[in-house]
Amino acid sequence: MNGFPPILAEINNLSKDQITWLLYSAKRFKLGVVPVGKYQISDTHQPIIATSFLENSTRTKHSFVIAIQKLGAMYVDFNAETSSLKKGESLEETLLTLSHQGVDLCIIRTSVSHQFDEFKTNPPIRIINGGDGINQHPSQALLDLMTFIDDGGEVKGRTVAIIGDCIHSRVAHSLMELLPQFGCKILLAGPEECLPKQLDSRLDTSMFHVTTDTEEAILKSDFLYLLRIQKERHSGPAAYYESYLHKHGVSLSRLEGLMANGKISKVPRIYHPGPANVGVELDMALLKSRHYRAHAQVTNSVYMRMSIIKAMLTNLGDVSSA
Ligand code: CP
Repeated sequence: MNGFPPILAEINNLSKDQITWLLYSAKRFKLGVVPVGKYQISDTHQPIIATSFLENSTRTKHSFVIAIQKLGAMYVDFNAETSSLKKGESLEETLLTLSHQGVDLCIIRTSVSHQFDEFKTNPPIRIINGGDGINQHPSQALLDLMTFIDDGGEVKGRTVAIIGDCIHSRVAHSLMELLPQFGCKILLAGPEECLPKQLDSRLDTSMFHVTTDTEEAILKSDFLYLLRIQKERHSGPAAYYESYLHKHGVSLSRLEGLMANGKISKVPRIYHPGPANVGVELDMALLKSRHYRAHAQVTNSVYMRMSIIKAMLTNLGDVSSA
């Protein structure tokens, strides 16, 4: 197997075998199969890992920080606001500087979509994309796949409905590259303004269905993945904001009503990358219910991010080295 790439900017940077290895390794961390003493990446070199969050984050940043510390690596919080980026220094020069200070890997979040395209070949440092604009959020999609598998076994032959602001969601874009590789179909649902007019030609379109009928998506899917309306990425307020909860929001009573009418056999599990907007894409009763799995996603995020960091720092690839 080939080694892991020095930059994880998008799901397509990884082969299916590498993704399978990440899932395997993350599960071993979760089960505690790897003893604490062996969490170190190297016996001779304590890696230094930096985070640089140029956009707000709760889940991604802190789970990476916890993963770094569980792996026994040194952690540096690079503060973009007080850095020389503010004096006009380029991101490339910034990362080269960190690299020459001994930083081995940098996890970066940015509001600029495709910010990492310039580093596709010969990146100045190992990079994990912690979310770039509306483009990609690969580690989130990987931990989501881990959670689907934890909850339902194989995803092959199953369908995930991604409901909400699909075109502005970097998580949706990463899931769209990831899940079909494992035989999982995707239903994209929401208001017309939130749905792609055309799917990316690199995707296997036979694995996708796009609908404005959210009830259809609920009825035809095994997992419901809800998205926030990402107003900060809109050019102005959209007409559908007011009617969103009624038309496309998912409430516990809506799901229980579908079950009472015999349209679904059970209330499906609900996933959300967070942060959730209660009263928009879901209601408080659903968020507080046992069907809501976002906290399981958060728990898995630490293990998946440990797995990704370990793979990228040790260039591992075969299962025996997990
Ligand atoms: N899922 C996710 O990216 O959440 P944060 O914005 O809180 O990191």
